[in-house]
Parts: sequence; C-alpha cells; structure tokens
Amino acid sequence: MSAQARAGISPIVLPVGGGKGGIGKSAVTANLGLALARLEHRVVVLDADLGGSDLHNLLGLDNDRPGLGEVLVSRDLGLKQVVAPVLEPRFSFVPGDAMVVATANPSFQKKRKLLNAIKALEADFALLDLGAGTSITVMDFYLTSPLSLVVMLPERPAVLNTFNFLKNALFRALERIFRGNAATERVLTVFRERSRGPGAMLVEDLLAAIEKARPGEGLRARRAVERWRPKLVLNRVRRVDDFAYASQLMGWARRDLGLLVEALGFLPEDDLVAEAAALGRPALDVDPRAPFCQGVARLALSIGQWAGRGADWALSRGHEGSFERAATEFAPLFPPPGTAWPTREELLRRIRELEGGA
Ligand SMILES: Nc1ncnc2c1ncn2[C@@H]1O[C@H](COP(=O)(O)OP(=O)(O)OP(=O)(O)O)[C@@H](O)[C@H]1O
Ligand SMILES: [Mg+2]
Repeated sequence: MSAQARAGISPIVLPVGGGKGGIGKSAVTANLGLALARLEHRVVVLDADLGGSDLHNLLGLDNDRPGLGEVLVSRDLGLKQVVAPVLEPRFSFVPGDAMVVATANPSFQKKRKLLNAIKALEADFALLDLGAGTSITVMDFYLTSPLSLVVMLPERPAVLNTFNFLKNALFRALERIFRGNAATERVLTVFRERSRGPGAMLVEDLLAAIEKARPGEGLRARRAVERWRPKLVLNRVRRVDDFAYASQLMGWARRDLGLLVEALGFLPEDDLVAEAAALGRPALDVDPRAPFCQGVARLALSIGQWAGRGADWALSRGHEGSFERAATEFAPLFPPPGTAWPTREELLRRIRELEGGA
C-alpha cells in the first residue's frame, strides 16, 4: 500500500497487558514490535509501564532519552518529540519514565491527551508495554484500543488473574462511557463490589440493571462490550495440556463478561528469553531461529495482515486462530506429561519437521 493510501489511517494500537507481573508482557512487546518492523511495517513501541519502565533493556538500548514520563509531566513536550527511530529504519521507540519521578498516576486529562497523540502517530502499529496489575492508569492504557493483547501463563492461578484483569478493564470501559451518569455509576459500583472471580456476576445481569436504571443505555453498554476483542497470547507453553488454560479463560470471559477473547497464538517456554535479557539484546537478534522467536514471527505474520487497514477492518474480520487447532498442529512439539522439556535443538528439529511436512 502506498504512503498516500496509508495517510489518514491511524496506527493499530496494540496494548500488551495481562493480570500479573513477570508473565512476559515486555518480552512479547519488544520482540513482536521488532518482528513487525522486519516484516516492513512501520512500528512504534512505547514503554507504558510507568513506575517500572525497563523495555529499553530488552531492546538493547541505553536509558538516556526522555519518554512518556517527561511528556506526562511537561507542559510543552509532545509525544512526537520523544519518538526516535532506533535499531531499524521502520522501528521507533518511546522510553517510559525511568528518568523522572512520580508519573505512575497521571491525571485523566493528561492521559487522554497522550492516548490521542498515540493514535495520531505515523505508523502501522503502536505497541504499548503495560505495567502489572489493574491500576486505573494500566486500564486506561489498555483500553486505548479494542484490539488489545492479553498475555497469560498456562497456570491455574493465571486464569483467574487474567479473568480479573479483563473484568477490571470492562468495568473501567463502562465507567468511562457513563462518567457523570449517577444512576449508571451506582449500578456499576454495586456489580463491581460483588466478589471477584468467575460466576460472581454475569454481564447479562449487569446490562439489564443498566437498562433498568437508564432505558436505552443497556444497549450502548452492550455495543461497547461486543466491540472489544482482546487477543490472547499464551506464553511459556510447555505441553499440549497447557492449551486447556486458554480454553478455560475464553469460556469464562464469554459466559460472565460477554467478551469474545480470541486466540492470537502461543509462545513456547524458551531459555533464550532470559539469556537475551541478560545479554541486553533483543531475543530476536540473539537467535532468530529459537522456538520463542519462531512463535513471535508467527504472531507478527498474523497481526501484520491488519496493517494499513485499520482497527475496524481487523475487528470486523475477527481472528481465525484457535488454540484447539494450535494444540493439534503443534502437539508433536510438546512432550507428554511427566517427561522432560525438549532441548532447544530438539524443539528446532521438531519445528522444521512440522513445517516441512505442512
Ligand atoms: N517464553 C518464555 N520462555 C522463558 N522465559 C520467559 C518467556 N517469556 C518471558 N520469560 C521470562 O519471564 C520473566 C518476565 O518476563 P517480562 O519481563 O517480559 O514480563 P512482564 O510481564 O513484562 O513483567 P513486569 O510486569 O514485571 O513488567 C523474564 O525473566 C523473562 O526472561
Ligand atoms: Mg514488563
């Protein structure tokens, strides 16, 4: 697509979130951003982990430039002034707030201005690496786009954490829509205070209560819920059984929250991720053939199709991936339960075999 044809289309903003710290949000953001740039898309990666910015390390960059922190505390500094091309011609990076103090909870006005500036960046993709937890700031960054990514580990507590993360995001989205609308705000507070976890509330009941409080508003809320399609990335997958955790999350999100969480893909467990972090280099550069990098490349190919077409196109098309299919296709990669995780060489050999046979 020509530059002219692209002009006027906002970048697809991909916030990368998840319930907890240490689940691979930053590793995914850094390497997926680079992979998209290497597929010739224009990419801006932003470190939106305010208070915990460290994405520059994973990209092998020094922490020597102003970033989102400075934009949020300054009157005059705009986002465009802190976007700098690094590493690749089509790749730009915006550091977080490692060089300034106390920006972890900026005002909504400041955030809104910044989020609008992100949507106006000249790029095909803007990836936002988010901090852990469910603070309002994390939620507001997460809600910048209906095409957000949600990273999850294949572990039992992670399913609950991820579910609660999505539930918090949903409530924040509705709070923002109905800001200043007292009757609806009361309904949201009542439902939010019900105990956490699956089965505690059903979105249908919430929408009905909103409709009862303010006729017509239930439909508005439903549209907001239905438009949002979080894309699940299952990280650190070790065995075929791990895909069951993804199915469980998708089931809970659908039933309780009315959310269609789509399967974007999975990334295998790979020591390379920690090795690359220790070397201060992107994993993609240390060993592009490593299983983690091959997984990242698959994600990038899948997401790359949205480039230049805008978020609405991507949303209307939906995503065809499914973990059932992934589990079947990639079953030979994983060891049967109770046996050792294969070495990287062994995994590579199996990947080559699978791809050769495909
Ligand atoms: N696929 C993987 N295989 C092996 N190790 C991984 C994988 N993904 C992430 N890790 C390891 O998990 C740890 C956490 O990763 P990362 O810093 O990307 O998580 P995070 O979600 O950004 O954490 P935080 O919320 O603290 O910012 C790191 O030590 C990283 O090396
Ligand atoms: Mg991180």
